[in-house]
Amino acid sequence: MASTHRRWVFVRRPEGMPTGAEFRLEEVPTPDPDPGQILVRTRWISVDPYMRGRMRAGPSYAPPWEVGEVPRGGAVGEVVASRRPGFAPGDVVVGTWGWEEMARLDGHGLTRWPWPDLSPTLGLGMLGMPGLTAYFGLFEVGRPRPGDTVVVSAAAGAVGSVVGQLARLAGCRAVGIAGSAEKVAFVRDVLRFDAAVSYQDPQWTAALEAACPDGVDVYFDNVGGSVTEAVMDRLALRARVVVCGQIARYNQEGPAPVTRDWLWQTIAKRIRVEGFLVGDFALRHAEALERLAAWVRSGRLVGRETVVEGFERVPEALLGLFRGTNVGKQLVRVAGS
Ligand SMILES: NC(=O)c1ccc[n+]([C@@H]2O[C@H](COP(=O)([O-])OP(=O)(O)OC[C@H]3O[C@@H](n4cnc5c(N)ncnc54)[C@H](OP(=O)(O)O)[C@@H]3O)[C@@H](O)[C@H]2O)c1
Repeated sequence: MASTHRRWVFVRRPEGMPTGAEFRLEEVPTPDPDPGQILVRTRWISVDPYMRGRMRAGPSYAPPWEVGEVPRGGAVGEVVASRRPGFAPGDVVVGTWGWEEMARLDGHGLTRWPWPDLSPTLGLGMLGMPGLTAYFGLFEVGRPRPGDTVVVSAAAGAVGSVVGQLARLAGCRAVGIAGSAEKVAFVRDVLRFDAAVSYQDPQWTAALEAACPDGVDVYFDNVGGSVTEAVMDRLALRARVVVCGQIARYNQEGPAPVTRDWLWQTIAKRIRVEGFLVGDFALRHAEALERLAAWVRSGRLVGRETVVEGFERVPEALLGLFRGTNVGKQLVRVAGS
């Protein structure tokens, strides 16, 4: 009997917060690889906030998922059969493919995991897209100077946790904003930011003020909304605002309300506000990964992974990002380790 595997299919676009009913699990025959192809057993799947944008029809920086197709995202897998030169059974690969337990791939965009001493799951986090986002967003867009106060929102998350540590490596003061006391403790005690505050605390803006007595020189914004409003009020002269993500509005339909006209401040304080995409720096990803890997090896860059067990829980893991259930990089373990 031919073997089968499971895959997820995107079946409907959500309105507002997704519920999980946007996806259907189905069982399909596992194909053999054709010449030029490999068969990969998926071990780990990454869920990322940008996927909410792909659930929406219409133009964005990434094409929407079509109803009826298998959603794609970052994954780690093991080659189980190869008819493509350069790949052999047992190879551990990192790349982007569909939410399937077994994936038939042509090898394009796949990387054989280059560091046997480091976990390949890092290729979905600190040594992958989130780490690169932190690196280029902070260093190239934020351009921190020693002594600067760098504030980052979603500080306990995959991108934010790296941003604050890189800021410290650059000689800055790192201040994190996160959504719970547990996350604040992680940011302060494990990631070793200089200070951290929880926006769930009613007094949090006073705590932010106290943590940034000379104002905010670089604000790395992962969330937008009221958190960002509070930071914008505290920007220093010639501050830089790195607009990385706006997760607070990803589940809102229609345009976000303009709650404050802070553009005036950009004149008065000569502030630079700049959005970016990690892909803008694709030609320099390899160089950045070498530096990030060296910091990981030396213990100067640390992180955490939140693991949801089981392929059948991929949508649940994705939804958790919008409730803040993850500390560090959110992963799904599909098989093995
Ligand atoms: N520009 C780029 O190229 C690029 C690349 C990668 C990621 N991003 C963006 O970077 C941001 C962080 O991504 P990530 O992968 O590192 O995710 P993450 O921070 O690991 O997870 C998302 C976190 O966002 C926070 N959050 C969720 N809903 C929120 C809300 N309504 N208000 C405030 N905070 C909320 C939660 O943390 P709390 O519990 O602390 O609230 C949650 O844990 C996202 O906005 C993402 O879209 C941009």
